Amino acid sequence: MIYSKIIGTGSYLPKKILTNKDLEASLDTSDDWITSRTGIKERHIADPNENTSDLAYEASLEAIKSANIDASDIDLIILATTTPDKVFPSTACTVQSKLNISCPAFDIQAVCTGFIYALSIADKFMKTNAAKNVLVIGADRMSSITDYTDRTNAILWGDGAGAVILSASKDPGILSTHIHADGKHENLLHVPRNKKEKGKSDAIEMQGNQVFKFAVNTLDQIVDETLLANNLSKSDIDWVVPHQANIRILEATAKKLEMSMSKVIVTIDRHGNTSAASIPLAMDEGVKSGKIQPNQTILMEAFGGGFTWGSALIKY
Ligand code: UT7
Repeated sequence: MIYSKIIGTGSYLPKKILTNKDLEASLDTSDDWITSRTGIKERHIADPNENTSDLAYEASLEAIKSANIDASDIDLIILATTTPDKVFPSTACTVQSKLNISCPAFDIQAVCTGFIYALSIADKFMKTNAAKNVLVIGADRMSSITDYTDRTNAILWGDGAGAVILSASKDPGILSTHIHADGKHENLLHVPRNKKEKGKSDAIEMQGNQVFKFAVNTLDQIVDETLLANNLSKSDIDWVVPHQANIRILEATAKKLEMSMSKVIVTIDRHGNTSAASIPLAMDEGVKSGKIQPNQTILMEAFGGGFTWGSALIKY
């Protein structure tokens, strides 16, 4: 049996920080409202000349270093993003060029569930002997598709990138992945193409409270599905590394798992919602802080536009 083992993690956050207080100055909102409704205090915002591939490249360098491999050992790059540098080529190809290596590289688009989808695909390559060292990246520059005059969206989103190196191993790594989609709800959370309309740009539109209810119910189900598939019980999970959309969603998942919030890696207060980047950013923080230790069982889960949702159960 071949497993995909995480042997390195890395992350990158742009330097500029946008606080709730900063947003109070330009929007009809308050630090109190944002904190109590979302858990967010601040988020990182990329410079205009900093592309998604730049964020992804920095996170990849860290992951490669922590895995103690050469970049040339990587034989596949999968990058999850909703904010590619260009329509084409894929941002994964741009990162491959920056790393100066030669290997297949492609993007996948599943919005906030993107990193789970990418892990799932990488694991299939590994299990079929098609790759031995895979660089899996989640990177997003959500500020580039956020309307900063829309208070329902401007407060939520942030920029960043996280990356992991997966390596073929006989020791348990990814135990299972579960991915889902239901395209019927596309208009509840989407970025319509508005560019052709004068004065409009492509920006996120979301019916937040409807998305919220759907997310909580669906994440409840994915927890059950993941535990059942692995014949595990709630108490077998050491850490939840969730997509960071709203602290109230994270609390609902912890409640479902009958788990203290101290076992959930929380970055939303400092990162906001970084879409595909949020899980690998949280994973890297969990590892670097010493919270996540070898041989522990990690549940990653996400919900996002599409709708898409999914989970990965990992022996770290
Ligand atoms: O990651 C991808 C998936 N995305 C998610 O999972 C996001 C899920 N949704 C959410 O996190 C929450 O729905 C939001 C944080 C987006 C909104 O929180 P909410 O508690 O669902 O608020 P709401 O949309 O029901 O709005 C409640 C009130 C409204 O005012 P009225 O109609 O009650 O007078 C809004 O106009 O809050 C108002 N409001 C705000 N007030 C101050 C909305 N945004 C703001 C704001 N500041 N920024």
